[in-house]
Amino acid sequence: MSNPSLLILAGDGIGPEVMDQVKRIITWYGDKRDLHIDVSEDLVGGAAYDAHGTPLHDDTMARAQEVDAVLLGAVGGPKYDDLDFSVKPERGLLRLRKEMDLFANLRPAQCFDALADFSSLKKELVAGLDILIVRELTSGVYFGEPRGIHIEDNMRVGVNTQRYTEAEIERGARAAFEMAMKRDKKLCSMEKANVMESGILWRDVVTEVHADYPEVELSHMYADNGAMQLVRAPKQFDVIYTDNLFGDILSDCAAMLTGSLGMLPSASLGVPMANGRPKAMYEPVHGSAPDITGQGKANPIACTLSFAMALRYSYDQGDEATRLEDAIEKVLADGVRTADLMGPDGGTPVSTSEMGDAILAALDASL
Ligand code: IPM
Ligand code: MG
Repeated sequence: MSNPSLLILAGDGIGPEVMDQVKRIITWYGDKRDLHIDVSEDLVGGAAYDAHGTPLHDDTMARAQEVDAVLLGAVGGPKYDDLDFSVKPERGLLRLRKEMDLFANLRPAQCFDALADFSSLKKELVAGLDILIVRELTSGVYFGEPRGIHIEDNMRVGVNTQRYTEAEIERGARAAFEMAMKRDKKLCSMEKANVMESGILWRDVVTEVHADYPEVELSHMYADNGAMQLVRAPKQFDVIYTDNLFGDILSDCAAMLTGSLGMLPSASLGVPMANGRPKAMYEPVHGSAPDITGQGKANPIACTLSFAMALRYSYDQGDEATRLEDAIEKVLADGVRTADLMGPDGGTPVSTSEMGDAILAALDASL
């Protein structure tokens, strides 16, 4: 059988720096666990624009369709702020999501014990926090038509369309219920059924799908209340299912509960390929962080945990994913901290590559 494949798209800003550490970990799995992954690399975002004048070359798109998984670093940066909308770095990312049909975006927000003090919330509200946001990723206002800026009565009008078919709501809901079945069997669906017809449909369809998952306790919440509840009492949630735009906002909010955006991975999953595994792209939730790029300050943990999700969901290596997650937990418990994880007590932060060293040492110790 051939080795599993991975296409690395490191992208912009801190993307390449954090990805360098993940490449060392991939090498470690080949050397120490006999788990060989065929890695190829390509450009996305501003890096692709600089080389090809487009944030995602057609050849790269085609390669992404063929591999078992894509691991993306980050896209964007101030250098590209004035580019035309159609070639902005973010368009590359959105094209990958859309054309790979990655409809289920899993965004876990877990608070590591060692970091509970770093949350902007009181420690007791976040210690032990473990929630999963399932964000619909290929539809809604991000992609709905009509869209654009046009002139009406001598005035500019900006238009975007929130549009969901029942099939789109349903397949995401099934992914969310499946996740809930593997966890604490609680699902909260969030929309704005009080003001949006798409929200009314959302609530109806999720309720219909619930009939197939009677063991799961389903609740519904307006998304604004959901945002409030996330900062008031986040531990009331297990799995949250929500649309593309609300999911974008709520997942940033949930991420910050855990203390640092530098910690959170994500997986975007699509329909099963011929080998039965879902089409998949993995990426850290953090962005390109231009303010710290090239200074060795970036935290490689979110990208590393994204690779752990690839081990679990794309390569059927759940035990090895757990090994990597445990190694990171140990490193944090030992007090190893990148600059973003420096608490009020101070201390000396380690560099990006020193964090990589520490994770590799913990992996060695796990053997
Ligand atoms: C995210 C990001 C993206 C989004 C941007 C970079 C297009 O904020 O993945 O959450 O809005 O989906
Ligand atoms: Mg976002």
